Amino acid sequence: MKIGNQNYQSIWIDESDPAIIRVIDQQKLPFFFEIKNLRSVEDVFNAIADMTVRGAPLIGAAGAFGIYLATLEINSRTNIREHLSNAARYLISCRPTAVNLSWAVNFVMEKLKNEQRSTSLTKTALDAALEICEMEKENCRQIGRHGLKLIEAISKKKKGSPVNILTHCNAGWLACIDYGTVTAPIYLAHEKKIPVHVWVDETRPRNQGAKLTTYELGQNGIPYTLITDNSGGHLMQQKQIDIVIVGSDRTTRTGDVANKIGTYLKALAAFDNKIPFYCALPSSSIDFNISNGMKDIIIEERDPDEVTNVTGFAEGKIRSVRICPEDTIAANYGFDITPARLITGLITEKGICRATEKDIKEMFSYKFN
Ligand code: MRU
Repeated sequence: MKIGNQNYQSIWIDESDPAIIRVIDQQKLPFFFEIKNLRSVEDVFNAIADMTVRGAPLIGAAGAFGIYLATLEINSRTNIREHLSNAARYLISCRPTAVNLSWAVNFVMEKLKNEQRSTSLTKTALDAALEICEMEKENCRQIGRHGLKLIEAISKKKKGSPVNILTHCNAGWLACIDYGTVTAPIYLAHEKKIPVHVWVDETRPRNQGAKLTTYELGQNGIPYTLITDNSGGHLMQQKQIDIVIVGSDRTTRTGDVANKIGTYLKALAAFDNKIPFYCALPSSSIDFNISNGMKDIIIEERDPDEVTNVTGFAEGKIRSVRICPEDTIAANYGFDITPARLITGLITEKGICRATEKDIKEMFSYKFN
């Protein structure tokens, strides 16, 4: 995706020094555009934990590069298997909800199973991490292609007046290496001159909608309006939303979707107002081993400071201010589960399907055991 005139991915390898992984620092956006260098497993862990990198496909890719960096830490005294398994466990432990992290780390580890020499381990790990990036980019392209049909159909019905899309959090290219999941159909529609307008939920507590989705859409010339998280229901009642499209951090084989906290409430409101509610996700976000989102998905709980404080921009600096009494007790749940029954459909790289085990199985039979 373009920032100014330059094309970027949200993660890449430094061309002049392949021991460095480069990422856009998402903690600083939209106030500063800064690139951060990751040189060790520890750096990758910290970047995922403090959300320098975030979004399910991106933390997967970062974890994969983390294993590559772990191979560079091998010396003659290293117990290779122990070192790599420790790195994998450590990286996976960083954030519990998005399945992409363990999926990607395990993808690289599987490729390393039969490698013995450190040079071939390094090459194989790098190839695997790059393969994941290419795979995710292609997944997003395909999600774009399939999702576009939904927008086209609504546009036709509305005789060309703007299609109003509500989204929550950021499931854009910043979260996904390139294109995004939710944003890919929107970017394609815009390219095809189909009028679209996006309602962007601010997405408390970290405001990924306010900070990142607005930034992305603005850079790409997509009309949008930022709203508070509680506005969606009202807008739906007023018929100002044609479709809701959100991302996913983990989707069960039965179609329950874990996504950023607040997604469930939007799904309830959409259901009540008979507004189509879609989740756009690559198959790397489907956990084919679990069936019950409420029981089987761990919901990340983050530092309560993210709730008691708000981070913004003032006097040329990024600053954090407290918004409640000093001794306030706060809870910070990162995600919630939207049950499959509230979801109109899943937009995947293989096409659009209903959020049911039968339909998911038909689409991804090779992943089912
Ligand atoms: O906590 P975050 O910012 O990593 O949460 C991101 C989301 O919830 C996204 O919707 C999800 O990861 C899908 S990204 C394609």
